[in-house]
Amino acid sequence: MVSRVIPVQPFDLVIFGGTGDLARRKILPALFRRFCAGQMAEDARVIGAARGDMNAAGYRGFARDAITEFDGDITMMEAHLARFLEQVDYVTLDAAGDVGWPELAAKLTGADHTRAFYFSVGPALFGPLATRLYDHGLASPGCRIVVEKPFGRDLASARKLNAVLAEHFDETQIYRIDHYLGKETVQNLMAIRFANTLFEPLWNSQYVDHMQITVAESGGVGTRGGYYDKSGAMRDMMQNHIMQLLCLTAMEPPAKYDPDSVRDEKLKVIRALDPVEPGDVVRGQYESTDTLPGYRNEVENRDTTTESFVALKARIGNWRWAGTPFYLRTGKRLRARASEIAVVFKDAPHSIFGADAGRHRNILTIRLQPNEGIEMGVTIKEPGPGGMRLVDVPLDMTFSEALGPQSEDIPDAYERLIMDVIRGDQTLFMRGDEVEAAWAWTDPIIEGWEAAGTQPELYSTGSSGPDDALALIHRDGRRWREIKP
Ligand code: BG6
Repeated sequence: MVSRVIPVQPFDLVIFGGTGDLARRKILPALFRRFCAGQMAEDARVIGAARGDMNAAGYRGFARDAITEFDGDITMMEAHLARFLEQVDYVTLDAAGDVGWPELAAKLTGADHTRAFYFSVGPALFGPLATRLYDHGLASPGCRIVVEKPFGRDLASARKLNAVLAEHFDETQIYRIDHYLGKETVQNLMAIRFANTLFEPLWNSQYVDHMQITVAESGGVGTRGGYYDKSGAMRDMMQNHIMQLLCLTAMEPPAKYDPDSVRDEKLKVIRALDPVEPGDVVRGQYESTDTLPGYRNEVENRDTTTESFVALKARIGNWRWAGTPFYLRTGKRLRARASEIAVVFKDAPHSIFGADAGRHRNILTIRLQPNEGIEMGVTIKEPGPGGMRLVDVPLDMTFSEALGPQSEDIPDAYERLIMDVIRGDQTLFMRGDEVEAAWAWTDPIIEGWEAAGTQPELYSTGSSGPDDALALIHRDGRRWREIKP
């Protein structure tokens, strides 16, 4: 199989915060890879904009270093890199002042290109940037703006950000990134659900006992402690990435694969979520080991009550899911980096093999990362004489084996998403009302913790999280899937 690369129309992409961490680690390497794949037109331009006093040559050096550092071995790509850098430019600019705006406007004038502005800056600068783009005549009707998470830290701040952007831009111009939606396997969730007839008849509370969504990380907060300690797992992962996975798992089939059809269905799921009972949510914080610092040491805050782990039981109050709980968990410094969605089906209504045959359940697991694939647990007869003994075995398909070399060429989430911005496809971006609805659901949970002033439960590095998280599901007579690499 050969993957088809369809070039996108010529574009000018301005990266505000062009010398920042995200530009270095993700945006510039992603653009370079799309360039190598032949997707960027020869006259497309990438313009870094930041306060630093630098010329275009200096920024090209910065981009070269970033790509070399974050794109692995690029020795084969040297020629490509030189050509890519010719399309890279820079402007010294003050996002909240006047410096640099006329120069930027001059660079953008004349070209009949799709214009995109990447706000790779803190949310406090969204307003000033939007206003200046408008004042300098750059907020043309066809232009797009791209904003990153965190989109607010609660419903009130998210509403403010939406209002600030809406002053000068239409919702169809705003691309709110949740990079999980750009992951190939996350998109595959929709393909698995809606391109196969096999699953849909069973995908409801009549057949599904419960769902488990796990996004486990083995790393700690590392150098991001300053940001993370003000957020915690609930704001950093649950409100966005896990919520998106929940939506794609639980939503009704959209009529079409287009931005509003898909996002309307996701929104309905979020709005149908019941409030979470305080007893149905557990938070944790990792302890130090002999060799690794604990959460508190890493964020250099001995009294912090921020959680690095959260697990909860969500209930969706609609016809499809009434009675089927969704157990969600995410955390850092867990046993392995492993993300999956497990659909645990109900027991067979009657066992013809008697009580001795034990309890056997079909479990469909969609592995998101690493080792992306699908596994279906089926029950068969254990070979050999001595009666009917049953055993559960996996029907296992790893995408890389099934698809061959093509699957090794899977674009990073940012590659896919940035190209979608240029193409004008918002399907994999969050709409303003979706983000607000997600905060409306998580806010009371966080407020409850703040009001109670309780500490998160400590858990050991390399474990599956705090004991209370195990109890959360055990008391319902269920168990978490093992977190394994
Ligand atoms: C980010 C979070 O959005 O996602 C990080 O801020 C987290 O804390 C990361 O580590 C996980 O992304 P991925 O792609 O490594 O699963």
